[in-house]
Amino acid sequence: MNVTDAVTSRRSVRGFLPDPVDPALLRQVLTTAARAPSGGNLQPWHIDIVGGADLDALKAIMAARLPAAPQGEPTEYDIYPKELPEPYRSYRFEVGEDLYGALGIPREDKLRRMMWFARNFQFFGAPVALFCTVARTMGPPQWSDLGMYLQSVMLLLSEAGLDSCPQECWAIYPDTIRAFLGTPPERMLFTGMAIGFKDNADPANGFAARRAPLAAFANFRGI
Ligand SMILES: Cc1cc2nc3c(=O)[nH]c(=O)nc-3n(C[C@H](O)[C@H](O)[C@H](O)COP(=O)(O)O)c2cc1C
Repeated sequence: MNVTDAVTSRRSVRGFLPDPVDPALLRQVLTTAARAPSGGNLQPWHIDIVGGADLDALKAIMAARLPAAPQGEPTEYDIYPKELPEPYRSYRFEVGEDLYGALGIPREDKLRRMMWFARNFQFFGAPVALFCTVARTMGPPQWSDLGMYLQSVMLLLSEAGLDSCPQECWAIYPDTIRAFLGTPPERMLFTGMAIGFKDNADPANGFAARRAPLAAFANFRGI
């Protein structure tokens, strides 16, 4: 697999097989991904990997926490801007429609959509979870470094035949995750990520999120 193959074939996978993932491979991927660039070489990423009985424990915590706090906990950052302007609003709407369309859950069926969304908090059945935390003192440039690290992780997973789904929905339950991971107070959670092998039979994996054409986001001058 070359880089183009990895970039174009990676998808956010939302239905996994229970097959285990080799921990040595995960260590290798996390190590190699740390070749990602970061401003000033700060390498601001902090990673927790959770699997096995620990993952079962976290899933049980979330199964109890969701009905107890369906609105989530006070968040530590805005996942989206409060008013999402165009064209971003439409992009977000479109991917939601494509996903729930593949699942056959109509827009009016808010309850089923909500129940399906809750599968995020069981990592869509994945055997491994990743959490990325960052020092609270870090700003937007360092958060962009996290993105470069995490994309490197996802591409290396693709190369190894594995799949992933980044999950910032975990930022809705920051207190629960901090307590579970024992994150020091000077750090905050950015995102989770489900990791494992794709279940091809799961309809949630039956669509590819669209992309805006080049002209919508790139400008060329003098070339
Ligand atoms: C930082 C980040 C957080 C995300 N959080 C979630 C999430 O909580 N749940 C989910 O199902 N998808 C999540 N996604 C996946 C996006 O919806 C997905 O990347 C986008 O729709 C494009 O689809 P693709 O990744 O399959 O190309 C997240 C993606 C990123 C980069």
